[in-house]
Parts: sequence; C-alpha cells; structure tokens
Amino acid sequence: MSKPRLILAVESSCDESAVALVREGGEVVVERVASQSQLHATTGGVIPEVAAREHHLWIPRLLDEILNSPVGKAHVDAIDAVGVTTGPGLVGSLLVGAGVAAAWAWGRGLPIVPVNHLEGHFRAAWLHDADFAGVAPQLPAIGLVVSGGHTLIVHVRSDGVSERLGGTIDDAAGEAFDKIARLLGLPYPGGAALSALAATSTQRVGRSRLPVARTGNEYDVSFSGVKTAAARMALAAAGVPSNEPGRATALQAALRERPVPPAAAAEIAAAAEEAIVTALLERVESALVAYPETGLVVGGGVAANGPLRRGLAAVALRHQRLLSIPPVRWCTDNAAMIGAAAHAALSEGRVAMQDPGRGLKVSASWPFGVEAPT
Ligand code: KG4
Ligand code: ZN
Repeated sequence: MSKPRLILAVESSCDESAVALVREGGEVVVERVASQSQLHATTGGVIPEVAAREHHLWIPRLLDEILNSPVGKAHVDAIDAVGVTTGPGLVGSLLVGAGVAAAWAWGRGLPIVPVNHLEGHFRAAWLHDADFAGVAPQLPAIGLVVSGGHTLIVHVRSDGVSERLGGTIDDAAGEAFDKIARLLGLPYPGGAALSALAATSTQRVGRSRLPVARTGNEYDVSFSGVKTAAARMALAAAGVPSNEPGRATALQAALRERPVPPAAAAEIAAAAEEAIVTALLERVESALVAYPETGLVVGGGVAANGPLRRGLAAVALRHQRLLSIPPVRWCTDNAAMIGAAAHAALSEGRVAMQDPGRGLKVSASWPFGVEAPT
C-alpha cells in the first residue's frame, strides 16, 4: 500500500486564520488557529477589510510557526499537496489564504487543491489526533452543517457526491444565535454565551415555544420568526413602550438604554435556543426517516451547542444511526477540517490537483457539493 498522503491546509474564509498538517484518513499532525473574534467583538461583527488585514498578518505567521515546530520540521519534506479554502466566505479573506497557499506551494513545487469551507465542516467529523480518537463516520450520510454563515442539510452518497435537501431561507442558525445574543447585550459572536445564559434559566415548565415557520420544503427552515419573537420578549421585559422600533439599529439602541433584566434575559435565551435547536432536530429527523440507510454527520460552529448535541444523540439513537460529530475545537473554523475535505475530494476523484502558478479562483458563494469555480 502506498504511503498516506500528507496535506498542508490553510483556512481564512471568515474570522479565523488557521493552518494544519493532515494525513489522509484524518489524522491531525499539527495545527494552529488564531481567532479574530475578540477584535470583531469591539465592532459587534466582522468588518471584511479588517478581517482580510488580520489574515494577512496571521496566515504567514501560523505557517511559519507550524513549519518551524519540531513536528512541522519533521514532516515538511513529506507534504504532497496544499489544500486551501477558496469559498464560500469573505472574498478579501479568501484571497489572502489562497494567495499565500498558492505562493508557498509554488515555491515548493507542490500542487494545490481548492476546498469548499462547508465541505470542510462536514469532513471535520473524520478528524482525529492523540487527544481524540473518534469513530469513523459512515457514508452515505445525512449531513447537517450549521455555522455562523450557513445552515444546510445534505444527503452525501458513498462516493462523496451530494445533494442539498434544504437549509435556511433567511438567517443561518449561528447568525440567529448571534443576533438574539446581541439583543440581550452579549458580545459577538454570541452563540456560546447565549447558550450559557440559557442554561441558567429556571423556568423550564410552561415556557411558550417561539415560532419557527414551516416552508414548502420540509427540510428548509426560517429563523426570522424566532428573532422577531425574541425581540418582542426583550422589549417587553425591558419595559420599552410597545410602539416598538422596527429596525435592528433602533431596537439595539432602545435595549442599550434599558437592558433586559438578567432573569428575563435567561428566559429569552432559553426559549430562543430551544426553538432553534428543535427546528434543526425536526428537519434532521425527517431526513433520517426519508433516507433509511444513512449515518448522521454534523459540523459547523453551532454543532458546539450542548442542547443540539444532546438532541442529535437522542435522534440518532431513536433511529439507530451512527452519529459523527467533532469535538468543539473542530466544530468552529479550523484548517484541519480543510485538510480532511481536500483528502476526501481527492480520493473520491471530485477534484484535481492544480498548478499553483495558475492562481486560484475564490468565490463568496460556492455551494456545497458543486465543483470548484474555475
Ligand atoms: O463555523 P463557525 O466557526 O464559523 C462560520 O463558518 O460561520 O461558526 C461560528 C458560529 C457563530 O455564529 C457562533 O455564535 C456559533 O457558531 N456558535 C454557537 C456555539 N458556539 C459557537 N452557537 C450556539 N451554541 C454554541 N455553543
Ligand atoms: Zn465555518
């Protein structure tokens, strides 16, 4: 048998700069992630130009750190290819990763592989290292990718070819978490903080369920109703007069003047989390029923959510399916998952190695399962 391929992977699509060395099969040899979230917390969200400038600083720095680490030094000559996220994401940020990765590959005479960020989240479930052994996921699978920018349910066949079943028709699940967190005065990116606040809620019994609209496609989901209901509850709890300001900025300003009292904030957080999580679980369960022989593979930042993880475990158990979900550090953005996705696309023959001298095309909106834009 030939030696397993080794890939140097680079991720810079949003607000994490990351570099990793990943072996075919998903072993993470070494990785580094530098998050910009503290920087973006000061502005309440990601400003694309600021993110790109930070990647410009951090991607070369992390690359250097990895390659000069003892493990990196021992492996650098064995690298077979460079994998890099070329979409979807912020164009300026993608350009930094793609440019640095292509230049480094060119200097080493190595080929380059464009990787879809959402496929990265899906393939994170294949990762393992000295601290996490995991269980090899099963294909075909129903995939749930839930992040700050995307929410989708896919059916992935054994040969890696996929079909999109549905997803959000408005905000992504993480975006809904972040916007509701902001209403409650929590810093960006509020998902984890909102979940922690929800866990302090005491009024579990008799809580009214926030609305999640059904759409024509049973796998689609809309989170705008949850957001509006949470905003109404927040205004009422804060005692803001009911001629409610419609625009998000006016709403924020009103709630900054009169913040939601802590106990009410915990109730709103719990109700919102329950609504978002339940909506996702219902759609996943429908997909498992419709595709009987599938495993369940979950990824993306929102897959770090405790109630969602527990709910998915219960659904998988009920339908006797293998649930594969990465540890929290590989749910949020990282480069190891990009390496795993590059390996998968290469071994399934869905992507060809490219000459880095020809440059890479990046795309803000490259859909899951579609060939890389050329
Ligand atoms: O995958 P990711 O790191 O970046 C994107 O590709 O978007 O996901 C970030 C998202 C943010 O919206 C963040 O609030 C959310 O994941 N998130 C969570 C939790 N941890 C991160 N949402 C709910 N509960 C969590 N524990
Ligand atoms: Zn992501």
